[in-house]
Amino acid sequence: MSEYLTCKGYDTATPIHTVSTEGLSAWLETLTPAQFKWVKNNKFKGNKNETLKIAGSGGELAAVAIGLGSDDSLADPWALASAVKSLPEGNYRLHEDNDQKLTPIVWALAQYKFDRYLQKKNDSGAVLVLKNEGQLAEITAVISGITMVRDLINTPTCDMGPSHLSAVMKDLSDKYGADFTETVGDDLLAKGYNTIHAVGRAAVNQPRLLDMVWGCADAPKVTLVGKGVCFDTGGLDLKPSSGMRIMKKDMGGAAHTLGLAQLIMETGLDVRLRLLIPAVENNISGDAFRPGDIIKTYKGDTVEVDNTDAEGRLVLCDCLTLASEDKPDLMLDFATLTGAARVAMGPSIVPFFTDGDVLAYDLSQCSEEENDPVWRMPLYAPYAPGLKSNCADLNNMGSGPFGGAIMAALFLKHFVDEPEKWVHFDVYAWNMSDLPGRPKGGEAMGLRAVYAYLKGRFG
Ligand code: BES
Ligand code: ZN
Ligand code: ZN
Repeated sequence: MSEYLTCKGYDTATPIHTVSTEGLSAWLETLTPAQFKWVKNNKFKGNKNETLKIAGSGGELAAVAIGLGSDDSLADPWALASAVKSLPEGNYRLHEDNDQKLTPIVWALAQYKFDRYLQKKNDSGAVLVLKNEGQLAEITAVISGITMVRDLINTPTCDMGPSHLSAVMKDLSDKYGADFTETVGDDLLAKGYNTIHAVGRAAVNQPRLLDMVWGCADAPKVTLVGKGVCFDTGGLDLKPSSGMRIMKKDMGGAAHTLGLAQLIMETGLDVRLRLLIPAVENNISGDAFRPGDIIKTYKGDTVEVDNTDAEGRLVLCDCLTLASEDKPDLMLDFATLTGAARVAMGPSIVPFFTDGDVLAYDLSQCSEEENDPVWRMPLYAPYAPGLKSNCADLNNMGSGPFGGAIMAALFLKHFVDEPEKWVHFDVYAWNMSDLPGRPKGGEAMGLRAVYAYLKGRFG
C-alpha cells in the first residue's frame, strides 16, 4: 500500500478545501465568522500554491485551504502538488467533489524524494483518505510502478549496473511467480546475441540479456523490451562531460518496462507477459568495440558501427528479433534512444513510433485521458535507405544530422517482424528541473497512458 494513501478514517481526516480565485467568495460564505476573518486577515486569495491552515473553535486544525489559481488553470492536475508537500503529517480528505482522478496519484508522487543516500530521510507524511476503497489497490499499484521507475533511474551506476538490474528483475519474478532467465558475458556470443556483447564487453560488470515470462501461456502475448544501458559513456566516441553527466539514466527504458511489468502483474492483467532487457554498460577499455567494427546480429544481418554512442539500437535489435520469434500480439519497447527525440518534442512529451494506425490512435486517446503526453512520429520509409552501409547490411546511424529519432526508430523496425503490432517509445526518463509533483531526476513518462491502453485492451 502507498504510505500516502488510505481508506481508513475518512470522517476524522482533516478536510482540504481546494479554492480557485473565482471560487473564493462562494467558499468564504461556507465558513464560520471566525474562520472568515482568519482567511481575510491572512490574505488568502486562492492563488496557486497558497496554503492556509484553519483552526476550529478549540484551536485544533479544522481544515486546510489550498489555492488552485484561476479557473483556467484548474485543468492542471498537478496544481495541488506544491501545497501537498508543505502539509504537516496527518490524514486529510478532499472536502469538495474533487473528481480529478489523478489527484491521489499527484498526492503521492508529490511527496516522493530519492533519499537512499541521504542521512536525513524523507519525513513527509500527508496521507490522503479516499472514500472509494475499490480505487485504492489500483492507484497504489500505479504509484508503486512509477516510484520504482524513479528509484531505479536515480540510483547511480555503482549500485545499478547490469548485475543489479538483473537482481531487480529476479526479485520481481520471485514476487509474482514469473520465470526468470539470463544470459551473461561470453554466453551471449554462444547464443548469437553479439550486439549486446559488443556494446557491453568493455565493462567490468558483464553484459547480459535478462528475460522474464509471466502469466497464462494461452493469454494474449505482450512483450516489453527496455534499453538497459546502465551507463552510456558514448564508448570510444566518448561523450563530452556535459553530455555524460546524467547517463546513469540510460537504463530509463529498462526502468519503465520493469515498473510497467510490476503494474501489470500486480493488477493481474490477463496477458502472457514477457520482459526482455539487454543490460550493459557502454564503457571503454582495451577490448571496447570500435567505430568501423562490423557485428553480426542475432537476426543474421551485419551492422557496421558508425558511432559507438548509437549503442542503444544495437543492444535492442537482438532483443527485438528474439521477441518477434514468439509472435507477440503486442510488443512495446522503451528506450532513452536519441537526443534528437528531445530536440523534436522537448523533455516531457514522449515520441512513439508504430505502423499500427489503430494502435497509435488508441494510445493517443489514452494519453489525453490520462494527462500523460505521448505523440506519434512517423516511421518514414523513404528515409530508410539512409541506414545503408558500404561494407555491411546496415549502418547503426543515418548519414546526416537530421531526423535522428526517426532514423533510430527505422533501424529498430528492421528487426521487428510485425511492425503494426509494435510501438517504440523514445523516452527522456528525466526531469531536468523540479516541476510540481515531478522532482528533478528520474521520471516515468507515458507509463500511465500505456497502462490505460493495456487495461482497456486486456483488463
Ligand atoms: N543515450 C543516448 C541518447 C540520449 C542522450 C538520450 C541524451 C537522452 C539524452 C544515446 O545512446 C545516444 O548517445 N544517441 C546518440 C545517437 C547518435 C550518435 C546517432 C545521440 O542521440 O546523439
Ligand atoms: Zn549513446
Ligand atoms: Zn545510450
